[in-house]
Amino acid sequence: MRCMTTSIFIDDTALATHYAAHITALHKRHDLALEAAGAGHAIIFSGAPIPVFLDDYYYSFKANPHFVSWLPLIKLPYSYLIYTPGEKTVLVYYQEQDYWHSPPEDPQGYWTPYFDIRVIREPGQAAQFIPEAREKCIFIGELQDPSPAMGIERVNPNTAMNILHYGRGVKSDYEIECMRQASMRAAVGHVAAEKAFRAGKSEFDIHMSYCATVGHDETELPYGSIVGVNQNGAVLHYQHRAIQPAPKPLSLLIDAGAQIHRYASDITRTYAFAEGEFADLISAFEALQLGLVAEVSAGVDYADLHLLTHRKIAKFLKDHDIATGSEDALVDEGVTAAFFPHGLGHLLGVQVHDVGGFMADSTGKIIERPSDHATLRLTRPLQTNMVLTIEPGLYIIDLLLQKMTGLAGDKLINHSVVDHLRPYGGIRIEDNVRITDSGCENLTRDAFAKLL
Ligand code: GLY
Ligand code: MN
Ligand code: MN
Repeated sequence: MRCMTTSIFIDDTALATHYAAHITALHKRHDLALEAAGAGHAIIFSGAPIPVFLDDYYYSFKANPHFVSWLPLIKLPYSYLIYTPGEKTVLVYYQEQDYWHSPPEDPQGYWTPYFDIRVIREPGQAAQFIPEAREKCIFIGELQDPSPAMGIERVNPNTAMNILHYGRGVKSDYEIECMRQASMRAAVGHVAAEKAFRAGKSEFDIHMSYCATVGHDETELPYGSIVGVNQNGAVLHYQHRAIQPAPKPLSLLIDAGAQIHRYASDITRTYAFAEGEFADLISAFEALQLGLVAEVSAGVDYADLHLLTHRKIAKFLKDHDIATGSEDALVDEGVTAAFFPHGLGHLLGVQVHDVGGFMADSTGKIIERPSDHATLRLTRPLQTNMVLTIEPGLYIIDLLLQKMTGLAGDKLINHSVVDHLRPYGGIRIEDNVRITDSGCENLTRDAFAKLL
């Protein structure tokens, strides 16, 4: 029996209405990429599973993001798209005959009319569909060994890749609809996770509640969920999940996403277990985060918004007696960076940290980060239909606070308040927004609102 991989969270009917325009946009982008590379065909490889060292099984397969931007086949290794301008795109569909694993199901769905589909049973059978003039081809994909390139010498040429990566920064209506649905899927999981936290469950059980609710196993999540109870919330990418519940739960920071055909959501919420100071701090920080969301629109320089976040955090530290001194001093002396050491956010797409965040244009010119802001992942001015995160945070990270010892900024920190906050870990609030001409569509808040 074939395994059906569809999910109640995927509304393919809504996606189908936008697919033709998505494909047209991809054609245009690939025409430009081929022209820049002086090539006639783009051969986009889905990828090969990576074996575990000295063993006979494989890491979970992650398809080439360039392949899955074309079509919703995220679990299809050894397959190819062959794009030639003006011709129907060939999809070489590897449907292995295997009794160890369940083979991919037959091609079906809204996307099939757009491809000339050729099913193969052995990876080597793909060669017959690759244009013989290999020098006119460019190969787009990952190569662990040279064989999948089948003699194509130009692998991921920068001339073409810059155009593709820059183009991916602005999403089609199809991609945006995927991401709306991905936000909805994750929001349902966040509600379940909060419930598990309030029931006193462990990090592990909160994580399991999340996964069960969104219908993802660990390998299907867009990234490993970050589930930090109490002080663990201060670890930016906390990777453990304690099996035992915390004896005295105070706070939960959960950063967890979901995906629809690999288009991701990336959402963080922070909860206080009880009413009181930390709950009030979260509410105040949420106002700060929403203030930042209100600043975005086409034309805004994201790096400027990141710098503005430091100013807002300086004020927040003062307002809540966590630090003293002028806002300028708190930024300039590195105090805000000690409490908020990551970037304001990043592009989002088939990759959680999507490509192209630093690109000034499609030639490969880079917009550098502001000095002293090495963790910022997006420096590009915002354009309509970019999708990105707004995720300010504030944490008690002892490693960074200790580094302040002896520096001028250290004297501005109110250490007794810091000591009081330490058991709560930290706060991050992360929404996914689609940029519009006059502001944004908040995919995350819209999704949570539908659940009320
Ligand atoms: N979940 C990782 C991040 O927020 O970028
Ligand atoms: Mn996140
Ligand atoms: Mn993020």
